[in-house]
Amino acid sequence: MKKIILITGISSGFGRETSELLAKAGHTVYGTVRKNYDYKGPVNILKMDLIDALSIRNAVLTVVQKEGRIDTLINNAGIHTGGPIETSPDENIRLQMDTNFLGMVRLTMEVLPQMRKQGSGTIINFSSIGGLMGLPFQAFYSASKFSIEGFSEALRMEVKQFNIKIILINPGDFLTNNTSNRKHFLAPTGPEDPYNEQFKRTLDVIEKNESKGWDPVILAKKLIKIVDCKNPRQRYIIGSIEQWLSVIIKKILPGKVFRWILEDYYKIR
Ligand SMILES: NC(=O)c1ccc[n+]([C@@H]2O[C@H](COP(=O)([O-])OP(=O)(O)OC[C@H]3O[C@@H](n4cnc5c(N)ncnc54)[C@H](OP(=O)(O)O)[C@@H]3O)[C@@H](O)[C@H]2O)c1
Repeated sequence: MKKIILITGISSGFGRETSELLAKAGHTVYGTVRKNYDYKGPVNILKMDLIDALSIRNAVLTVVQKEGRIDTLINNAGIHTGGPIETSPDENIRLQMDTNFLGMVRLTMEVLPQMRKQGSGTIINFSSIGGLMGLPFQAFYSASKFSIEGFSEALRMEVKQFNIKIILINPGDFLTNNTSNRKHFLAPTGPEDPYNEQFKRTLDVIEKNESKGWDPVILAKKLIKIVDCKNPRQRYIIGSIEQWLSVIIKKILPGKVFRWILEDYYKIR
């Protein structure tokens, strides 16, 4: 069945690849961007910034007025800050939570009345492997994704009665603009910073892994199947075997042992 789909953050990465594939598959796709976006293609472009509540309301209104329904909301847009917790600027922390969590909450709340009215709908929320384990020097990113996890688990039970499904996506490392964007949001460090050496060592591991990340098209192709699936799972972990295994072993191993493994991986001394 062809669907009316609203997806956030289509100027790059997963959003760009997924919106394009969904539209080519015949769905009616509305994709959001923040800045002017020179685009000629099958996706309907909407201006929306997750930290601007009015722009969120207007984007949802436009889709509802034009199509009369929203079958699928894909909460994809997000940013990735980094740095030691102690020296993270307040501004970065707020921006991280406002974009990844509160913005996603606002948009979901705008879409829910329409889905309730329809008696159906699917909301796909982008978490991360970092939403299932706290990652060193990515604390506020992890916190924003943990928030999405808790929110999604609670929402799933509240909206079951209206036939609305909530799906979580946990990607591993993929080659998107995620890494280059994070450079804008790194906490400032220097030789006088007591975290500097450890941060540099760990950041090196993070960036090496990201540079070997998979093509976002792989995830986009998987998402197309999830959107089309009649009985989707409530969570999809999409990444390398090591990333997938890390989620499993966290559940099995004693907390301390799992922490030693993560510390070794991230070169925590
Ligand atoms: N890449 C990975 O390895 C990875 C791993 C796990 C989870 N994820 C998650 O996957 C999702 C997509 O990220 P990506 O990897 O595709 O990164 P990306 O290439 O940087 O794309 C992020 C998108 O979000 C948009 N965005 C950022 N702030 C926004 C705001 N305030 N309002 C509206 N849109 C905003 C960006 O728009 P602008 O162009 O205007 O900045 C961009 O279109 C994110 O939720 C991310 O946390 C990614």
